[in-house]
Amino acid sequence: MQNINIDLLPICVVIYRYDEDGDFIFEEFNKKAQETENIQKEQLLGYKVHLKFPGIKPMGLLDVFYRVFKSSKEEVLEIGLYEDSRIYGWRRNVVSKMDKERLLVVYEDISKENELIEEFEHTLAKKTQELKKQKAAFEELFEKSSDGILILEDNHFVQCNQTIVDMLGYDSKEEILQLHPADLSPEFQPDGQRSLEKSQIMIQLAMQKGSHSFEWKNIHASGKDIWVEVTLTPISLNERDVVYVTWRDISQRKEMENKIQNYTALLEASNRELEELTETLEERVYQELEKNASQQKQLFAQSRLAQMGEMISMIAHQWRQPLGAISTTASNLKLKLELDLFDLSTKEGIEEAQQYFSEKLDNIENFVQNLTTTIDDFRNFYKPNKRSVLVNIKAPFEKALKIIEASFLADGIEIIKEYKSQKEIHLYQNEIMQVILNILKNSQDNFREQRTKKPKIYLSCQDTEDGINIQICDNGGGIHHGIIDKVFDPYFSTKHEKNGTGLGLYMSKIIIDEHHNGHLSVKNEGEGVCFKINIDNGELNE
Ligand SMILES: Nc1ncnc2c1ncn2[C@@H]1O[C@H](COP(=O)(O)OP(=O)(O)OP(=O)(O)O)[C@@H](O)[C@H]1O
Ligand SMILES: [Mg+2]
Repeated sequence: MQNINIDLLPICVVIYRYDEDGDFIFEEFNKKAQETENIQKEQLLGYKVHLKFPGIKPMGLLDVFYRVFKSSKEEVLEIGLYEDSRIYGWRRNVVSKMDKERLLVVYEDISKENELIEEFEHTLAKKTQELKKQKAAFEELFEKSSDGILILEDNHFVQCNQTIVDMLGYDSKEEILQLHPADLSPEFQPDGQRSLEKSQIMIQLAMQKGSHSFEWKNIHASGKDIWVEVTLTPISLNERDVVYVTWRDISQRKEMENKIQNYTALLEASNRELEELTETLEERVYQELEKNASQQKQLFAQSRLAQMGEMISMIAHQWRQPLGAISTTASNLKLKLELDLFDLSTKEGIEEAQQYFSEKLDNIENFVQNLTTTIDDFRNFYKPNKRSVLVNIKAPFEKALKIIEASFLADGIEIIKEYKSQKEIHLYQNEIMQVILNILKNSQDNFREQRTKKPKIYLSCQDTEDGINIQICDNGGGIHHGIIDKVFDPYFSTKHEKNGTGLGLYMSKIIIDEHHNGHLSVKNEGEGVCFKINIDNGELNE
């Protein structure tokens, strides 16, 4: 030892001597040790170790000293923490017995390394903790994910989460693990492919593309179908190639899709029905219109029949005067003959008789002609004539008045006419006559009922920009305001006891509004009622 200069050694070297008190006394303390412990050799030599380094006992090194001294067996204290009021650090000590009285202690400061180790250990612990947490989190994610997760290795499931167990309605994971994907599916998928073959193709596709998604039909433990959207992703797990499989339950979506499909089919069917209906509807509307038209025709006929009855009474009035005249003339002739008022023995007498007779017979002929004309007028009025004519409104007015005038004369009805219209317009003449007669006849009925004194009817026609304007007013007291809105309704009549049909004004309204594109309206005005008719210039639809 004397040959070695311990101060040159790059490691701490201390020599202790054992004294009679049982203490270890510093005998050598090399340079490296002085630097490490930040103390001068002079401050130590001759002193007891525990007085200068009180931390040596708690560190456990002093015990090592005693043991080695006693046993003479070298001991190593791998890591010991030395700590006192002055210094602090990690030490690695090798203690050996030099000779009977002395110990050789070689040691190094491993604080730095230890700090690093500690730090490393600390970080490791932290990381381990984090990893544990992550692992727990991942495990929770794996177990509790609403998507079913499976790990497929060599075409068999080796791991799955609880969601899969629940989805399939199984009791435990063990029932599923080691199965082939096709074991959980029907033999054929809805596209007709065998599940076994299709699953292989899908896995193949996932391998090629890195990931592959598709819809798949599985079978629930109860036997019913479950639809899932499968995503296959090949991954490496613990250095093994596996396929990470997720299942998303799309049974509800599929059910909805099915429902939508059914609804669409239903909708299409009802659309077809609707189309058919629309087609037949046209036909039906046409039929209804026809029916309506024929009903209207019937009403027309009914109303005209009623009018005809009235006409007969009018004819009677018209005929009364000429028939009376014929009868008077004939009786006169007869009387003259019976009284022998002509001297037929003389030429003059014969001539006189001839002249007289011929004159009277002419008169009779005229009256008969008159009768015939009246009949012709009526016949013309009743002839079915649906051709429009271009006339001045005065024409149908006069024709109507001719039919009615005798009857009006008999009732003392005065007619005041104001024909100011100049233009000719398209009319269905008989229909317009029918309207005029309906209105005039209503006034006559009302005059009779009301016993109107000095019954009067005012007729006026004038041209407007687009057509003509007609007014027929009377002084019969008007229509009660409670029923005036109903007078154009079919069968509305206040004359049921007198066989009123209630069709006169209804037909008149149709004739004016629909057949002549015009407008017939009624209003109480002055001392009675006023009917107004507007008719446009335009041509009529034949
Ligand atoms: N000038 C009028 N004055 C008072 N009331 C009238 C007049 N014109 C029509 N009315 C009322 O309008 C009703 C309907 O007239 P409309 O001509 O349609 O039928 P009607 O005259 O009763 O029957 P029909 O014409 O078959 O004889 C009449 O019953 C009557 O009450
Ligand atoms: Mg009437």
